[in-house]
Amino acid sequence: MAKARTIFFCQNCGAQSAKWIGRCPSCGEWNTYVEEVVQKETAPAAGSWKPASTVPGGNMQKAAKSRPLADIQHEEEPRILTPDGELNRVLGGGLVPGSLVLIGGEPGIGKSTLMLQIALALKKLKVLYVSGEESEAQIKMRAERLADGQHPGCYILTETSTQNIFRQIDQVQPNVVVIDSIQTMHSTLVESGAGSVSQVRECTAELLKYAKETSTPVLLIGHITKDGSIAGPKILEHMVDTVLQFEGDRHLSYRILRTIKNRFGSTSELGIYEMQGTGLRQVSNPSEILLSQRAESLSGMAIGATLEGNRPLLVEVQALVTPATYGTPQRSSTGFDSKRLQMLLAVLEKRAGLRLGQHDVFLNIAGGLRLDDPALDAAVCAAVVSSLNDLPIPGDVCLAAEVGLSGEMRAVPRLDQRLAEAEKLGFKEMYVSQFNGRNLGEQVRTSMRVQAVGRLDEVLNSLFG
Ligand code: TYD
Ligand code: MG
Repeated sequence: MAKARTIFFCQNCGAQSAKWIGRCPSCGEWNTYVEEVVQKETAPAAGSWKPASTVPGGNMQKAAKSRPLADIQHEEEPRILTPDGELNRVLGGGLVPGSLVLIGGEPGIGKSTLMLQIALALKKLKVLYVSGEESEAQIKMRAERLADGQHPGCYILTETSTQNIFRQIDQVQPNVVVIDSIQTMHSTLVESGAGSVSQVRECTAELLKYAKETSTPVLLIGHITKDGSIAGPKILEHMVDTVLQFEGDRHLSYRILRTIKNRFGSTSELGIYEMQGTGLRQVSNPSEILLSQRAESLSGMAIGATLEGNRPLLVEVQALVTPATYGTPQRSSTGFDSKRLQMLLAVLEKRAGLRLGQHDVFLNIAGGLRLDDPALDAAVCAAVVSSLNDLPIPGDVCLAAEVGLSGEMRAVPRLDQRLAEAEKLGFKEMYVSQFNGRNLGEQVRTSMRVQAVGRLDEVLNSLFG
């Protein structure tokens, strides 16, 4: 019997050391080293996804040979288009065969629901849904809640050992595999507990090898830590092809699926869902929902034309400005960077001559979205002034411009997309920077009145007289 060997792993970056170290030399984090038992002997090579008995010759591996790039043939395998348009969009146009996709998100946000829904919707394919977190009955109950809970080719396996999972995979021969949470999986090749750095790394390596060798896409669900990063080693994110983040306020029904890394597409994509009693519904026209509760002629509201990823969105910025009851006025913002709000208030004070020093300012982006597009600046300023003066902004006006420190309106990228979206939603007038207006030229045809303005105070004068 071989002696159990232990190694210290950095829980942050996965670096290893024979001894405990206080500060990780590779990532610089303090106190992240944890001792884990590793066992290398007798078993097949680490990273192997096949059960020991099926690996011919045990540890023997065929060495790869280098080849000139020109000689390498590749056949483009068609992507698997899922019935979920939002997921296809964030994946850059469908699931790539043999890809490893990691979906991270806070507990209860709906990761398992989304994955089960997709497993059930892939009607033409055989899907294996492996859960290490829930019982078969729980999964069945969830499937019954979903609007479309029937799919004879969807197999459920409640198992946490990767070797057993691969045995089942051998039998079922699925076209897509879902692993409900990589942190609950464990491999017998490594001795430490499930969720530890070496287990997560080993299980991911086995699944990666399986995915690449059989061209089967594997969707991994990953937990998230308190600070919002995916739990486990950074290495996990390096190993997979695509990292998606599922986020949103748990008390609100909107959920956003964001691309963080994608080897097969752009990372600026975004999918929007709404959590309903019957599962997640795709929201293909988010602006309509974000604006639907708008009552005409209320003060403190302005519509900003923003871009989330490649998708134009019109959002409602709400501000409430009231005289401060206590000495220090409060500034609070939801869904918008509060430092940026402070800066814009200072600009309003200095460049537009508003007296906000004695007022509390509350800002909210409707719908529970968190946005950081600077093009919202003008709408934030307009909402604040509208509330301060108690003068509403006409319902068919929107704004898209960054506001600079000297009160100038700065250009924003891809104005044509923002204009097109606003026009589609029935807006008549958009305030933009004069620098955007200059380049707009003839190529953009729009029936909107485009007000190209140089300074923020001109916008405020024009809106509030
Ligand atoms: P779940 O998918 O288990 O989240 P995760 O796997 O990310 O931890 O649960 C999502 C939440 O959504 C849960 O609180 C119940 C709720 N839910 C609905 O509102 N409607 C539904 O149809 C389903 C299945 C869940
Ligand atoms: Mg879950």
